[in-house]
Amino acid sequence: MLSPIQEYIELLHSRYASSMEGQVADYIPELSKADPRWFGICIATRDGHVYEVGDTRQSFTIQSISKALVYGLALEDRGEEHVLSRVGVEPSGEAFNAISLKEGSGAPFNPMINAGAIATAGQVLKKDGKSRIDRVVEYLSGFAGRDLEINQSVYQSESETGHRNRAIGWLLRNFGILDEDPNETLETYFQQCSVEVTCRDLALMGATIANQGIQPVTRKRAIASEYVDNVLGVMATCGMYDWSGEWIYRVGLPAKSGVGGGILAVLPGQLGIGIFSPPLDKQGNSDRGIKVCMDLSRELALHMM
Ligand code: DON
Repeated sequence: MLSPIQEYIELLHSRYASSMEGQVADYIPELSKADPRWFGICIATRDGHVYEVGDTRQSFTIQSISKALVYGLALEDRGEEHVLSRVGVEPSGEAFNAISLKEGSGAPFNPMINAGAIATAGQVLKKDGKSRIDRVVEYLSGFAGRDLEINQSVYQSESETGHRNRAIGWLLRNFGILDEDPNETLETYFQQCSVEVTCRDLALMGATIANQGIQPVTRKRAIASEYVDNVLGVMATCGMYDWSGEWIYRVGLPAKSGVGGGILAVLPGQLGIGIFSPPLDKQGNSDRGIKVCMDLSRELALHMM
């Protein structure tokens, strides 16, 4: 017999499987190869139960969802005060790729826009003979509970077309937000966005955050418990681009989306949600993902506010 949660997500999947609104991202040529029909829903509880339906084992790139988690790594490496001196925590109300830096200091408004994520990647230390990107991939893997890898074609495509991000990197260097030549940090950022995950990984990453940083299956700590609330805070206020206010009003869960079509949402203390569907709305959020999360929140009474 199916559990009520499994039955419910199957119903939700069938409700939106034939909805074909939104466009697959094509500003990075490799992303345009995604199949618009791919659609997965996964819920993982803090004690490691996983409920899934649809394309939950299909790989895609994590993209901006990495920004929320790498923020945790920067906090662990440098501490809150240092990180806050380089990147703010105010919603910008602007698109993810806006060249949006505070007047005077040049600090990006928050770690979820590209400028803030590039500044955050620059705070990650090279340590124990490991490069920044090796540490980032290892860190993200800790949340997923398995070894993640970089999709090299997406990385090449990002790097070849990322002129705007390069311009942002040089501005950050100009303001002293980045201490070094920005090229290495930019490559780290392009690679962190190109890490391959599945919808199931996203749900388990969310469940890890919901579980105060302990991955529910491996039982290993992925993030220091003292920084879990900081990560949830920036997800809640800035995680859904310039739709973050609407999102928290309607769905009421800390979340982060990526242009690969993924959404990771967290009900702290309870569960993680992973949605995957590549067609995006005009803000760059997964169109089906938003619809599913609005229904989930309302129908299972998950809104936290
Ligand atoms: O910087 C870029 O263009 C992308 N790699 C960022 C990805 C993303 O999901 C944009 N969203 N915030």
